[in-house]
Amino acid sequence: MTKKVGIGQSHSKLILMGEHAVVYGYPAIAIPLTAMTVTCRLTPSDKVLVRSPQDPLVTAILTAVSHLKQSPYLTYDISSSVPERRGLGSSAAVALAAIRAVFDYYNQSLTEALLERLAHKAEKVAHANPSGLDVKTCLSDKAIHLVKGQGFSTLSFDLGAYLVIADTGIHGQTREAVAKVKALGHLANPHLATLGELTSQAEEALSVGNATALGNVMTAAHDVLRVLGVSCEKSDRLVTLSLAHGALGSKMTGGGLGGCIISLVQTKQEAEVLAKRLEEEGAVHTWLQKL
Ligand code: PMV
Repeated sequence: MTKKVGIGQSHSKLILMGEHAVVYGYPAIAIPLTAMTVTCRLTPSDKVLVRSPQDPLVTAILTAVSHLKQSPYLTYDISSSVPERRGLGSSAAVALAAIRAVFDYYNQSLTEALLERLAHKAEKVAHANPSGLDVKTCLSDKAIHLVKGQGFSTLSFDLGAYLVIADTGIHGQTREAVAKVKALGHLANPHLATLGELTSQAEEALSVGNATALGNVMTAAHDVLRVLGVSCEKSDRLVTLSLAHGALGSKMTGGGLGGCIISLVQTKQEAEVLAKRLEEEGAVHTWLQKL
């Protein structure tokens, strides 16, 4: 028995430390952005929804519909406060919202394990070799520490500090960036190992509430990601600007080659001042996130 409408929602995420290295088995830390959400609404259609490999939403809808052995006579509507392709996990959030909407539409119960499995399948279309970090964090209301293939744990901390998230306005290219690192072959190994070590130091800094130490490892991670070739000129410029304006640390976040940067500051007031400055210098949007 189907309903006339199916609705699903998800929040987004950001990677604090460990992007790219996580693909190779090093740890990564990501935090949920619960205020940034995607809602998918499905209604009946007399036309069949057609697969579009470049579209994570349609891919996720069809993955879920085919799991339920239904025919996709559906049309969709999406409302989102997550900017697309900016390294904030929009493809994972969209996939989770879409799969929830499909199960709601067909009145089927959905376990978290199945939701995660179907979203991971859809994410493979968005970029070939996803670590699973995005989906896991979009499913969580706590920060996630993940080692691919080994498992994850949730992290609790309260640094009393703030992250300024600044959007370069340039589409991030996760698939291309992941391929670029792969193409480096063994030359990437020492850099990936350094990123892994920096993530472990970040975990330690979080556990003792040391924002200065966290800032330092964030900036060090940005330098490594830049050397790996996955940053971009505008991200580098916004990172440099953040540091010049007193940020404790700053780095790109997510797949890169565009997308967003994150800068750590101690107080909300400093965050507001920095966000304004970054917008004056070309960031197309900024958000504040308490850490
Ligand atoms: O660009 P995003 O938000 O999808 O993040 C990609 C993170 C990578 O580590 C580069 C890839 C992955 O699967 O974890």
